[in-house]
Amino acid sequence: MEPPSTLPNMSESHWAIDGGVLAAIERLVPEGGTVLELGSGDGTAALVERYRVYSVEDDEAWVGHCEGATYIHAPFNDPGGKRPGWYDVDALRQGLPETYDLLLIDGPAGHKGRDGILHHLDLFRTDVHILVDDTVRTHEADIARELAMRLNRPMHVFWNFSLIPTEPLNAEDVARIQWEAVRVLEKKDESFIKRYFRNPSPTRKIDRLEWYDKVRQLRDQDKAEISQSYSLRIGQVITFPIRLLLSFTKKRRSL
Ligand SMILES: C[S@@+](CC[C@H](N)C(=O)[O-])C[C@H]1O[C@@H](n2cnc3c(N)ncnc32)[C@H](O)[C@@H]1O
Repeated sequence: MEPPSTLPNMSESHWAIDGGVLAAIERLVPEGGTVLELGSGDGTAALVERYRVYSVEDDEAWVGHCEGATYIHAPFNDPGGKRPGWYDVDALRQGLPETYDLLLIDGPAGHKGRDGILHHLDLFRTDVHILVDDTVRTHEADIARELAMRLNRPMHVFWNFSLIPTEPLNAEDVARIQWEAVRVLEKKDESFIKRYFRNPSPTRKIDRLEWYDKVRQLRDQDKAEISQSYSLRIGQVITFPIRLLLSFTKKRRSL
C-alpha cells in the first residue's frame, strides 16, 4: 500500500507552491539549507519548516506574511513601453543574500510578468539549483527554457514546474518528484486542466501509484547493485579474518 505523503499539508490554493514543488526542493536541498524565493505567500510557511528562507516580495501586503522568513521588499517597477516591469533592482542588489542553495522563481504575480529575471540574471547566483514554478503557463515555461539554455544545464519538466538542477537528477529522484506532482494533478478539476492543455483527457490514466511502484523498484535495484558491487565483495574478503576472530571471541565468551 502507498504510504501517506510525508510532506506538510500544503494549501490547495493555486497561488502557493504545491507538494510536487516541495518534494523537488527536498530532493535537492538538505534540511537547514537556504532557499531564495521570488514571490511570497502561504507556501513560504512550508519552506520555513525545513529551510532558512529569503523571500523577495513586491507587494507590501505580503511582506512579513510568514514568520521565520527573511523578507526583502523590492517594489514592482514598471518602466512602461516594451520593457517588462519587475522588482526594483536596487532593492534586490541591497537585500539579496550572498549564498543560498536554491532559487525558486514564483513571483512577481503571474499577471505582472516574471521575465525581468532574464534581464537581471547577474544579480543572482547561477551555480545553484533553480526551480521555476507555474511552467504550465507559456510565459514561465519560456523563462525556464531560456535559463536552462543560458546556463548550459539540462532541465527536468514536470506538469506544472521545471527544475534546472546543478547536476542532472537520477531516476529515483525523478520518480519521487513525479509521484508527488501527480498527487497534486489528481486533485485538479477539469476546468483547471482545460485552461492550460488543449485536451484535458489523459491518454494514459494519471496514476500516482505507478510512480510509487517505480520509486520502490528503483530503490530495490540500487540496493541490489550495492550488495553485489565489487567493492563490497573486496571489503568482505579483507575484513574476513577480523570478522572470523570476532565470532570466535563471542563464542568463547558465551561458553
Ligand atoms: C504565486 S505567488 C507566490 C506564492 C508563494 N511562493 C507561495 O508559495 O505561497 C506570487 C505573488 O502573488 C502574491 N500572492 C501570494 N499569495 C497570494 C494569494 N493567496 N492571493 C493573491 N495574491 C497572492 C504575492 O504578491 C506573491 O509575490
